Amino acid sequence: MCDSLKLSRDIMLIPRAEQLTLVALPNAVRIGRAYCKATLTGWGYRDDDFVADAELVVSELVTNAVNAVGPERGSHDGVRWGELLDHSTLIRLFLVDTRRALFVEVWDSDPRLPQPSAEGAQFDAESGRGLGIVAALSRHWGYRRPYDANGRRNGKVVFAELPLPTSTTSTTSTTGAAWRPPPP
Ligand SMILES: Nc1ncnc2c1ncn2[C@@H]1O[C@H](COP(=O)(O)OP(=O)(O)OP(=O)(O)O)[C@@H](O)[C@H]1O
Ligand SMILES: [Mg+2]
Repeated sequence: MCDSLKLSRDIMLIPRAEQLTLVALPNAVRIGRAYCKATLTGWGYRDDDFVADAELVVSELVTNAVNAVGPERGSHDGVRWGELLDHSTLIRLFLVDTRRALFVEVWDSDPRLPQPSAEGAQFDAESGRGLGIVAALSRHWGYRRPYDANGRRNGKVVFAELPLPTSTTSTTSTTGAAWRPPPP
């Protein structure tokens, strides 16, 4: 095999990752979705169903994080905006392509853990469906409790592992997507 062919084959085996820090406000969900779509498209994924599934998982996990650490719904008027940049009200979205699976991971500072509905929420339920959707779209999902630099537990990461599309739809692009935040 010629060197350039071997090099491009090897590049396609290298894991790649992107991350975005979000402020825990409702528009974090829309920004997270747009970032996910731009990243996967920038990585060369052209399968619309795969990208839509990943966006939906991002949407559910970021929504849960906003609910956990964001200001009370409808009370933004009383929020001091500087406080929103406090570590505890930030959310981090990670997209990791191991080349065998896509991991969507969302960190928030709340120590409370996800509580999936025991029997699975009804389709027409008004709440309790999000983690069921994540479970349905992923190979598996879960959470872990990371440590900070001082050895203390620091919130949690909720993650979902999505299967990659079966067709060879990924290019060798290793650069990040040319992402821009959507207009307000
Ligand atoms: N990041 C999180 N931090 C703290 N608690 C969480 C988090 N994610 C989920 N939970 C808990 O798990 C429960 C179930 O989450 P799930 O997403 O399935 O339903 P929901 O958010 O209550 O409603 P829906 O997603 O249908 O609007 C939540 O009500 C919440 O108590
Ligand atoms: Mg939810």
